[in-house]
Amino acid sequence: MLANRKILLCVSGGIAVYKAVALVSKLSQAGAEVKVIMTESAKQFVQPLSFQVMSRNDVYFDTFDEKDSSVIAHIDLADWADLVLVAPATANMIAKMANGLGDDMVSTVLLATTAPIWVAPAMNVHMYDHPAVKRNIDRLHHDGIRFIEPSEGFLACGYVGKGRLEEPEKITELVAGHFTKNKPLKGKKVVVTAGPTRERIDPVRFLTNFSSGKMGYAMAEAAAELGAETILISGPVSLPVPSGVKRIQVESAQQMLEAVLGEYDSADLVVKTAAVADYRPAAIAGQKVKKKEGNSVLELERTVDILQQLGQLKSHQILVGFAAETDHVAKYAKDKLERKNADYIIANDVSADSAGFDHDTNAVTVYGRGEFERAFPVMPKKALALDLLTLITEKEFAK
Ligand code: PMT
Repeated sequence: MLANRKILLCVSGGIAVYKAVALVSKLSQAGAEVKVIMTESAKQFVQPLSFQVMSRNDVYFDTFDEKDSSVIAHIDLADWADLVLVAPATANMIAKMANGLGDDMVSTVLLATTAPIWVAPAMNVHMYDHPAVKRNIDRLHHDGIRFIEPSEGFLACGYVGKGRLEEPEKITELVAGHFTKNKPLKGKKVVVTAGPTRERIDPVRFLTNFSSGKMGYAMAEAAAELGAETILISGPVSLPVPSGVKRIQVESAQQMLEAVLGEYDSADLVVKTAAVADYRPAAIAGQKVKKKEGNSVLELERTVDILQQLGQLKSHQILVGFAAETDHVAKYAKDKLERKNADYIIANDVSADSAGFDHDTNAVTVYGRGEFERAFPVMPKKALALDLLTLITEKEFAK
């Protein structure tokens, strides 16, 4: 499963280090070449020799111990890896990564590598729950780092709870899945828009909507998983950047338009999941607008319809829009398909339970050219995104 794959295992110091030895064994049995770097604390739990025997490779722990004078070890290891796995990852190692520290071999290599980094934490249940640890994990999610959640059970400290390093078999299975997954969008560039836009009224107020970005981020994550070069153009939301995705942050409809046009020529597929404002204030006040007696009227002007503009400029791109509707869903969706010159419109009935804005689940019907229609029942947005992109990929790129 992992033949010819190079896995760099970074081991930090907790009792779960003994399981990391078994992990090297499992990864090697699956065909991977494994190299190991240990922190000084990890060496307190298990001798480097155990990892050396299991991996049949030198074990690294000292940044200044250059075993081969023709290369610089920490750069060489960083470049060598197809995937870097930090297991077990202690609270301290996670904090160092979140703050970009490079004060030992492990943290320095983690800064130098461009390979995907996966982190498998292991620690006491209260440490895992600590706000600082959560904050650091959040920050690493934002940096596109993938986490293998610890499992629940008896912990070495005597507590029962979440904090056990995931089992070596399971970690090996996840790593293998990463490499063997079907990548039908390899070589394609996918641009996804997500979230709401904000249209400023004055320095302290704006118009927006309830989009959380979940559906758009799920589409971007799925596109990257299917092998696409993925650009996510996101309105203001508080979601981490999915692994392997490049995010461009925007605020207003106008900024989103400019960002999308900047990526459009080289895009193969554009998915417009964002809930873009149709109107913005005709003028933005330079100072905070003071309240007065009686009612106030805000003059609004139309924003550019980005999807429609992309439809007019379309050459080779496949163009997919979403439609959030509360009534006459099919009629309005088909109308948008025509009017905006899209190839597909994915319609949400946002009045339905568990679907639409801010839910973790969604239910949609896809409308395409030639009366194409396919309904998807309520399911998690992540699973739905994979199904939607698989459908579009099969119809458009697998010809
Ligand atoms: O973000 P979540 O909380 O997960 O919610 C997901 C969602 C409900 C926002 C998403 O599934 C969805 O339906 N997105 C489209 C919402 C929408 O704005 O629909 P619309 O019918 O107003 O627009 C139709 C299409 O035109 C959309 O692809 C939209 O991006 C695009 N549009 C709209 C206006 C505009 N000025 N420019 C556009 O490109």
